[in-house]
Amino acid sequence: MTSAHVLAIDGPSGSGKGTVAARVAGLLGWHLLDSGALYRLVGLAASRRGIDLADECAVADCARDLDVVFENDKVLLEKQDVTNEIRSEKAGATASKVGALPQVRQALLERQRAFAMPPGLVADGRDMGTVVFPDAQVKVFLTASAEERARRRYNQLIEKGFSANLASLVAEIRERDERDATRAVAPLKPAADAVCVNSTAMTIDEVVAEVSARALSAWPDLRV
Ligand code: C5P
Repeated sequence: MTSAHVLAIDGPSGSGKGTVAARVAGLLGWHLLDSGALYRLVGLAASRRGIDLADECAVADCARDLDVVFENDKVLLEKQDVTNEIRSEKAGATASKVGALPQVRQALLERQRAFAMPPGLVADGRDMGTVVFPDAQVKVFLTASAEERARRRYNQLIEKGFSANLASLVAEIRERDERDATRAVAPLKPAADAVCVNSTAMTIDEVVAEVSARALSAWPDLRV
């Protein structure tokens, strides 16, 4: 399917995979695919065009036409900086709705695969190892308990000056896990050949070290 090296990191929200993927890509000097950002961008583009999110064909057209540029740490949608806007809770909820539409997932498939270029790609998402890059040489499924993920989210919200309730965050996370794991198309689950890493009691540095070690053993010529 692709000849470039691919390291797939999948897992639920709050498992730390976004941070880990970015750090490992930086260490290896590889490209990074933040596939969640694509779903967030489709949701935003569709909302801006006034498209009904239940209109699967129209949302899939939006995904196919997506005019997006990833420039260093910035994300441009139709030449406009939307880096912060796509990180909102609302954008996350919309992404989750458009991500449940099979035609949208299909429309984003080739766009995601095009990120696999030399020297290699670290791909972060929910279905990187199962659907988008089934031939990835290294697949990591990163998890953490719902309580720990809620605690991390709680701390982020408090740091940003928002109010938050830990118990309701745990409930929301459990609900989202259930929805993601049971959806008909590309449900969140580890690939059969993925290594599961439970980050509940690990620091980010420890997870980065663990994932980098997997990459180094799969590709012994790599230097970090
Ligand atoms: O990873 P992130 O939180 O940015 O993803 C936002 C939403 O996009 C997720 O909640 C999920 O529903 C969806 N998504 C997906 N498949 C991916 C990445 C994200 O369905 N590969």
